[in-house]
Amino acid sequence: MTAALARPDIAVIAARVEEAADLVTVALDELLPRADGAEQRLTEAMRYAALGPGKRLRPYFAIETARLFDVDERSVLRAACALECIHAYSLVHDDLPAMDDDDMRRGRPTVHRQYDEATAVLVGDALQSAAFEILAHPDTHDDAEVRCELVRRLAVASGAQGMAGGQMIDLLGARDDLGGVARMQRLKTGALFAYAFEIPLIIADAPDAEHQALMMFAQDLGLAYQIVDDLLDAEGDEDLLGKAAGGKDAVRGKTNFVTLLGVGAARERVNLLADQSCRHLEVFGEDADFLRAGVDFVLQRRA
Ligand code: IPE
Ligand code: IPE
Ligand code: MG
Ligand code: MG
Ligand code: MG
Repeated sequence: MTAALARPDIAVIAARVEEAADLVTVALDELLPRADGAEQRLTEAMRYAALGPGKRLRPYFAIETARLFDVDERSVLRAACALECIHAYSLVHDDLPAMDDDDMRRGRPTVHRQYDEATAVLVGDALQSAAFEILAHPDTHDDAEVRCELVRRLAVASGAQGMAGGQMIDLLGARDDLGGVARMQRLKTGALFAYAFEIPLIIADAPDAEHQALMMFAQDLGLAYQIVDDLLDAEGDEDLLGKAAGGKDAVRGKTNFVTLLGVGAARERVNLLADQSCRHLEVFGEDADFLRAGVDFVLQRRA
C-alpha cells in the first residue's frame, strides 16, 4: 500500500475517492457475472445497478484505511467490491414501490423502472449472492479463516441485526424518540458503513485497541453519513444527488433526525458526531489524517 498522505485537504480526498471509484468499477465489471442464456436480462440488470455512477464511498474508506495496515491490496479490493454489491442490492430494494417507491437513482431510472419489479427483486437477490461468492473465493485471501470472518461479518452487517433490520424499523413508520431513530440509522446504514473499516481490520488481524478505535470511529461516521443523507433529502439539489429530494422523507411520514429535530439541530448533531468520530482516531496519530479529512468530505458532500 502507498504511504500515508500528510494532512490532505478536501480536494485531495475528492480526487482519491474518484480514483478508488474507478478501481472498484473496473474490478466489479470483471467480478459480476455475464450470461448468454435467457437469464441475461438478470445479469444485465445487476450490472446496471452495480456499475452505475455511485460514489463508492464505502470501498473508498476500506481501501484508504488499509493503508494503516500491512495488507494485500487485492484482498481489500475484492472485499470492497463485495460490500459494494450488498450496498447496490440494498438500494435496488430500497427503491421498490413496496419500500420507498423511487423512480430515480444515481441520475438514472431505478432498476424497477428501467426493467420491472420482479427483475429488481432478483437483482437484489443475485447481487447479495455475488457478494458472498466473491468473499468466499480463494482469490480473496489464502487463509480460509480470514475469508470465513469476512463472510460472517458482512452477513451480520447486512442481515436482521444490520441493514435489513434497520430497513424494517424504517418501514414501521413514525416514532418520536431520538434514541430509537439513532438505533434505526445505525442498523440500516451504520452497520454496512462500518464493514468498510472491518475489511482491513479482519485482513490485518489488527490489535484490539486499533480494532475498537476504528469501529467507534466508523459508528459515528456512519450515523453522520445517514443524517447528511436525510439533510440532503430535505434541502439538497436533485440534479446533484441523482435521486428525489424535496423533503420526500417528511412527506412519506419517515422519521429521522431532520424530521424530528429540524435542519439546524440535525446539522449540529452531524458536527458533534464528526468531532466525536475524530477523537477515536488518536491511537493512529497523523497516519489517520486522511480519515479525518474523509470526515470533512462526508460532511460537505452535496451528491
Ligand atoms: C445512499 O448511499 C443510501 C444511504 C445509505 C445513505 P450513498 O449516498 O452512498 O449512495 P451511492 O452509492 O453514492 O449512490
Ligand atoms: C437507505 O436509506 C438505506 C439503505 C439501507 C439502502 P434511504 O432510503 O434514506 O436512502 P436513499 O435516500 O433512498 O438513497
Ligand atoms: Mg429508505
Ligand atoms: Mg430510499
Ligand atoms: Mg435518504
